[in-house]
Amino acid sequence: MNDDRPRLAGRRIVVGVTGSIATYKAVTLVRLLQQSGATVDVAMTRAATRFVTALTFESLTQRPAVTDLMALDADRRIAHVELAEAADAVVVAPATANAIAEMAVGLVRNPVTAIACAGRGRVVVAPAMDAGMWTHPATERNVETLRGFGYLVIEPGFGALASGLTGAGRLAEPATIVEAMERLFARSGDLEGLRIVVSAGGTREPLDPVRFIGNRSSGKMGVAIAEAARDRGASVTLIAGALSVASPGGVTVVEAPTAASMREAVLRSAPGADIVVMAAAVSDFAPSRASQRKIKRDGAPLRIDLVPNPDIIAEVAEMPAEVRPFLIGFAAETNDMEANATGKLRDKGLDLIVANEIGGPFDAIGSDENKVAVFGREGNLTDWPMLPKRQVAERLWDLIADRYRGQESSTDPSAPRGASRRS
Ligand code: C5P
Repeated sequence: MNDDRPRLAGRRIVVGVTGSIATYKAVTLVRLLQQSGATVDVAMTRAATRFVTALTFESLTQRPAVTDLMALDADRRIAHVELAEAADAVVVAPATANAIAEMAVGLVRNPVTAIACAGRGRVVVAPAMDAGMWTHPATERNVETLRGFGYLVIEPGFGALASGLTGAGRLAEPATIVEAMERLFARSGDLEGLRIVVSAGGTREPLDPVRFIGNRSSGKMGVAIAEAARDRGASVTLIAGALSVASPGGVTVVEAPTAASMREAVLRSAPGADIVVMAAAVSDFAPSRASQRKIKRDGAPLRIDLVPNPDIIAEVAEMPAEVRPFLIGFAAETNDMEANATGKLRDKGLDLIVANEIGGPFDAIGSDENKVAVFGREGNLTDWPMLPKRQVAERLWDLIADRYRGQESSTDPSAPRGASRRS
């Protein structure tokens, strides 16, 4: 690969400019995005045109700037819809408190928020406002909402503000915004060529044809991990236990409702995989036998013998070095998270373990958000807040990809593909 290639070559980016004293910095942003190879279009709010004219941007981009929601393009199509459809990313910079509030509630009264809302690509938001507005609970809540949509928010800097005060609220430097966008697209194909197996959801261990022993796992975390890997170019197999969400398109789905069927599916696909993520909540026990007929109530107590299920991930860890994938487990813990998670990492012979809390304010099960800590052999590797599960998935892939590649480059070809087992 040619590393001299401009990092945004082939990307179409819309810069959405709103009205702020920082509006003039959008001119530099457009220049830098162009220098990085992007084709840039500009959309502006009416307020933005009072700070910098559309002519400035049109001269730079040699394309019409969209300033009117009702405008048609040269082909008589609605300009903001066409742009939104085509853009790989929309970057709203500067984004005023008002623009952020509008995006958070889905108001599309100007071309900038309309394109951000209608776009199919990534949305990047670079706020600029007075410090009081930036730290107001309404803005904080709106920014969190945008993050929840998967938008990338580039934090404003600290310094002198237009009001004469000093504080947080200065638009991030245009170069910083461009770097963030380059990273965004660098990542979007960073798992290209990798075969990744993800297990998700809970298993259901049958007692009879109707009843089972199961757990509350929704599968949302594992599905988000599979989707993020797919979007980053990997070829993904999802081994699906019981899911309360739809399984994603664009991945190979293998249904595995019981621990036994999940074991079979994982052991079949793991030797051909580069990375296996076991996010499934596999039942530790199963009834020793499932009744062929529905168990009847006869007034007497019912005794069920439970036998331990095989530890699937530990079996994968024991695979011969030539076929053993890089291996990530999950640990759901109610207490002593670090000690339990690192104990499991060691005992099961994993490369990484993702720990999350069950019960309490950060209950991971079934929710749309998750607060996780990732542990490697050297200890805790992360300090992440509570995040939407898709964002957790993206951060996990950043970390896993780094580790996986680091290990690939530091081992000779005959060395194990994953960490050495139970040392
Ligand atoms: O021991 P515990 O169930 O807490 O370990 C959790 C990790 O081990 C998860 O990655 C889970 O998918 C995996 N596991 C497994 N087979 C089992 C039990 C758990 O692969 N029987």
